[in-house]
Amino acid sequence: MSIGIDTKCLHLEDGDDLDANYGAVSYPIYQTATYAHFGVGKSTGYDYSRLQNPTRKQLEKIIASLENGIDALALTSGMAAISLLMELFRQNDHIIIESDLYGGSTRLFRTVSEKNGLSFSSVDCTNIEAVEMCITNNTKAIYIETPTNPMINVADIRALAELAHRNRLLLIVDNTFLSPYFQNPLDLGADIVVHSGTKFLGGHNDTLAGFIVTNNQKISDDLRFLIKTTGTGLAPFDCWLLIRGVKTLGIRMKKAQENALKIAEWLKTQPIVTKVIYPGLPEHSGHSILKKQARGFGSMLTFQVQKKEFACSFLEKVKLIKFAESLGGVETLVTYPITQTHAEVPPEELARNGITDCTLRLSVGIEDSDDLIAEMEKVFNELK
Ligand SMILES: Cc1ncc(COP(=O)(O)O)c(C=O)c1O
Repeated sequence: MSIGIDTKCLHLEDGDDLDANYGAVSYPIYQTATYAHFGVGKSTGYDYSRLQNPTRKQLEKIIASLENGIDALALTSGMAAISLLMELFRQNDHIIIESDLYGGSTRLFRTVSEKNGLSFSSVDCTNIEAVEMCITNNTKAIYIETPTNPMINVADIRALAELAHRNRLLLIVDNTFLSPYFQNPLDLGADIVVHSGTKFLGGHNDTLAGFIVTNNQKISDDLRFLIKTTGTGLAPFDCWLLIRGVKTLGIRMKKAQENALKIAEWLKTQPIVTKVIYPGLPEHSGHSILKKQARGFGSMLTFQVQKKEFACSFLEKVKLIKFAESLGGVETLVTYPITQTHAEVPPEELARNGITDCTLRLSVGIEDSDDLIAEMEKVFNELK
């Protein structure tokens, strides 16, 4: 039976297996490391929890269904997911990466992956011709985030998938910012989707998690071998927290998006604010692409203030809004990319991407938007 995305957040497409779990409506936490065998060659289907655990499998089925993939892997963090992905490649392989990526991804590529013999070209992936120019004989993949962190650039997933496949490359999309609720890159031609499950999927700023989803059987088999071998699968209790978080993904995404649009429009009226970057605003360069490839604009927005002192005072004065790293939870967070998420990105790359000491990133939560705006208004008045 085909079911809608809100139902998919709560129920498996092929039905909930109540018989196997005493009718438990909340899926049980199988807190076990290992599984007894009834005889040689007789397995319950589970042997050891590094390979698989029923609670993890339940979560993975839900995420695969939300992303329209054939398989999903649940890992201990977004970075664990991206690190595992890099194990699909070999020495001398070349990967084209979006220039405005989460700073932790850039750090992984530039340090660990380069040490292991991979090479990277960083380019603005909203520019298809520029991406094409970077392809060499050794190129194996294009790796993007869309929208990007923190400058909210929007790439055309269909066009990049077409370019990738014409050149026998994989297209990998970090779909953290919109979540599967608003965007399904596999449906647009991507080969692999990656998520920081810590963000919208978990949704409560309380659990680290990561996901890889694919609709390619060979990639799924390779990743299953890697998760078994490297041991970065998500623990049963954290899987349960993610299963619980995903149940409210739809209502959280919609309410946070509604708040983000109101805040973006209000920020535009503030003299202290010099730029508002939110793809739900019609003037955003990615607005029309998102209208074609996504079902929403999300709740991440970035804005610039007149001077560094204003940015720092804003961070120190907010109380309801928390000055913290991370995003995608029910609480509104403000982040200072230059000293937090992007602290280790080289200054010339930050400058190229337009990230300055006046740049603030907001992950809008689900509070009353009037309260969020009232707090920002109070703080802005104190800055003048
Ligand atoms: C877009 C994006 N991808 C990946 C990650 C890494 O995820 P995690 O913090 O769960 O390791 C982050 C973290 O902020 C992120 O913003």
